[in-house]
Amino acid sequence: VLADFDASALLALAQRHFAAARFEEAETACHDVIAHLPDEPNALLLLAAIAAAQQRWHEAATFLLFGRTRHPQQVTFHRALADLFLGLGDLANAVEPLESCVLVEPNERDHRGRLLALYETCRFTTFRQSSRQAMLACLSDEELSHEKMQRAWLSLLRQDTEAQSLLLVLTSPNYEAFERSVSPELLSSLQDNELFTLGLTRLLVMDLAIERGLGFTRRWLLEHPAERQAYLPLSCALARYCFATEYALLGDEDHSALRHEPRTAPDVCLLACYEPLFRHPSAADWRFFSELPAFTSVFRAQVDEPLREQHFRATLSPSTPIADPISLAVREQYEENPYPRWASLGRRPPLPESSARLASGKRILIAGCGTGREAADAALMFPAAQVLGIDLSSASLGYGMRRAHELGLMNLSFEQADLLEFPALGRSFDLIVCSGVLHHLADTASGVRALLSMLGRGGALRVALYSSAARRKLAETRAALRSAGERGTPSEIRRFRAMIATRDESCPLKRQLEASADFYSLSGCRDLLFHAQERTFTLPEVSALTRSLGLRILRIEPQGVPKEALYRSRFPDDPSLSNLDNWERLEEEQPLLFSRMYGLWLCRGVERDIVDLDWIQSAQRG
Ligand SMILES: C[S@@+](CC[C@H](N)C(=O)[O-])C[C@H]1O[C@@H](n2cnc3c(N)ncnc32)[C@H](O)[C@@H]1O
Repeated sequence: VLADFDASALLALAQRHFAAARFEEAETACHDVIAHLPDEPNALLLLAAIAAAQQRWHEAATFLLFGRTRHPQQVTFHRALADLFLGLGDLANAVEPLESCVLVEPNERDHRGRLLALYETCRFTTFRQSSRQAMLACLSDEELSHEKMQRAWLSLLRQDTEAQSLLLVLTSPNYEAFERSVSPELLSSLQDNELFTLGLTRLLVMDLAIERGLGFTRRWLLEHPAERQAYLPLSCALARYCFATEYALLGDEDHSALRHEPRTAPDVCLLACYEPLFRHPSAADWRFFSELPAFTSVFRAQVDEPLREQHFRATLSPSTPIADPISLAVREQYEENPYPRWASLGRRPPLPESSARLASGKRILIAGCGTGREAADAALMFPAAQVLGIDLSSASLGYGMRRAHELGLMNLSFEQADLLEFPALGRSFDLIVCSGVLHHLADTASGVRALLSMLGRGGALRVALYSSAARRKLAETRAALRSAGERGTPSEIRRFRAMIATRDESCPLKRQLEASADFYSLSGCRDLLFHAQERTFTLPEVSALTRSLGLRILRIEPQGVPKEALYRSRFPDDPSLSNLDNWERLEEEQPLLFSRMYGLWLCRGVERDIVDLDWIQSAQRG
């Protein structure tokens, strides 16, 4: 009791010294505590903080690692260790302590959000059970943007000895080889591998050889009707995957027999691996074929959700004429293939009250909103603003309306309209966002002019345009496909994907496509390589365009933190990141720097001193 009392008094003293930056005295007080109580957690944490404050990083880590072994259930040590590594830019070493945070405090959602952000850049080179458990926790959290973990997931699976033998069979060179190596035990272990099956329901398998193996598994189930019941959960996961990627999966076996009245849940599920259930007139009768939650999920994704989208779509009527020939061609593409298909936005912390006040009453237009992801994101970020999404494609809008309804977004509405015609309605906005749209118009400048005519005084415009350097190979491929008369029908896309799959791993086009999430779904692949209309820009062309329209570039948005850090370290005298010449130099060195487009924040040149960005920036900081 005496030691405890002394310890608390000493610790309080140490804290006071630390707060006043009297590090030596603080350290002495902590060491006095440690002399009596070698494991005292607060003393260890404070010693680590004192060391870190003096940039003695190694020492700080040593205290935290020691504390963590003594108090493995205390999240503070894991969190402090993760923060230490993150602060040092050592992302790889931050993964393991963040995984521990996720596992020690499973109810704390922020840990999963932080781990997910790390997954975006990290790849596993070793396997730990704790990594597996933490990843499963992230996959089970419906509210995360799971696409960020696609590559990390595959890298962990590849390190998992249990999964390795399964992946080996899946990557068989052809179906005959697969059939020879596959066994009921192997399929059972595939089915029981939760990391694999849960991943299939949420992620893309960004590896063409493994993807082909999913096709082999589907075919095996087709050819072995007696085995289907045993692998119902596996078929459910496969059906979710096939639907999410719009049946881009390689494989051309004849499944038409399945259409004739499937009578059991496994038959329904296998049919769902080949075509969407909602297209089938008897689908409603199959709903209760199985009570398995995985089956219910397939049914929800393939019947309930598409029917709800159709319902929303039917409520739309165009607010403007859609008559421009290019607009009509583009609309046709996105009516057939709404893009992008998104599930979750990730969680946003609530806006600080001051930012909410600033954003109150602001009007935001998302022009060419597609399936509404950016629009939903803006509506969530600025709950006191009014967000409007417009697009040519009613199928895309139906998707967005369904998602907005599910998310309960009352400040978001959608209209079917051509952005070129929309100014005639006389509306005005404080912020206009137009990503990945203007390069699909016949004339980009007239699109920007139309948007500018709706921008209120002091308003800002955020556009994203394709980079010629980043898309060089893709543009060449698109041109070749177009001159061969291919417009991107499902069979043309599947054939093209199959052709790419046969290419050698060293083929640069294959490498670029395999690394692009868009390549794995029909709508993504069509958008990527079979677009009805597109052009690309060089940075000098961007500069000429903005100058001719009297616009000022407020900022060129780097896509992803590492690139922003790269720019800042190379050009410390441009904190606004808006110097085109600097970016051009960087892009020359790294042609794929803007693989996700140039993101440009613009305002009218004459308004540069009054442009109101405070409300946007305060929310982003929040
Ligand atoms: C590549 S998608 C981008 C969707 C969305 N901005 C995003 O980033 O998720 C392009 C979208 O622009 C829409 N679009 C193209 N031209 C348009 C126009 N003239 N008016 C309205 N929308 C247009 C298409 O229908 C399509 O949904």
